[in-house]
Amino acid sequence: MNATDVSAARAAAVAATVDRIRGIEAAEGVTRASLAAIRAELLKLAAQEHLFPSANFPPPPNGEKGSNRYLLQEDQGGRFALYLNALNPGNETKPHDHTTWAVVVAVDGQELNKVYERADDGSDPARCELRLREEVMVEPGRGICLMPEDIHSIHTTGKVPTRHLHMYGLALERLDDRKGYDPETGAVVPYNRNFMKPTATAKG
Ligand SMILES: [Fe+2]
Repeated sequence: MNATDVSAARAAAVAATVDRIRGIEAAEGVTRASLAAIRAELLKLAAQEHLFPSANFPPPPNGEKGSNRYLLQEDQGGRFALYLNALNPGNETKPHDHTTWAVVVAVDGQELNKVYERADDGSDPARCELRLREEVMVEPGRGICLMPEDIHSIHTTGKVPTRHLHMYGLALERLDDRKGYDPETGAVVPYNRNFMKPTATAKG
């Protein structure tokens, strides 16, 4: 396939996948079970590695920190936003929520997800106490589902850059009440409002 054909095939596969995901959400709502069904659809998409070549979706140059986030598709109004995130090994985020549902699967590379629960009662909006609930390695064939209130941190612990598909119920740049959580100090802070625009355009 030449580059134009790959791009067209990717667009068609993404559109068909998101069609099915819209149908799942419409039929079942947002539950752990419906997110698992959405993850199954995304895993099938991510398994088609030829649609997401590393040449078209590189991570930041020279091993730099941060992510290149490529918007693949979103509905009008920002619903059902699907991105490809490319990160170098050695990145991590602080624990954070999303305020919308999220499902992440891997085309390539490993990202360790730590999922936390609140050990406090949430009554103080500026303070938290987190307890590690589980660790999930997102890698080819494995993904993670997060409900709007779930808290996770990511750690790119693998040897190669990640190319991961991130699907959100609502586009990240439209979310204005996300929180970051500092497990050391217990501080609750606004999370990364300024880094929520897609940062890169697919190289083909
Ligand atoms: Fe996240």
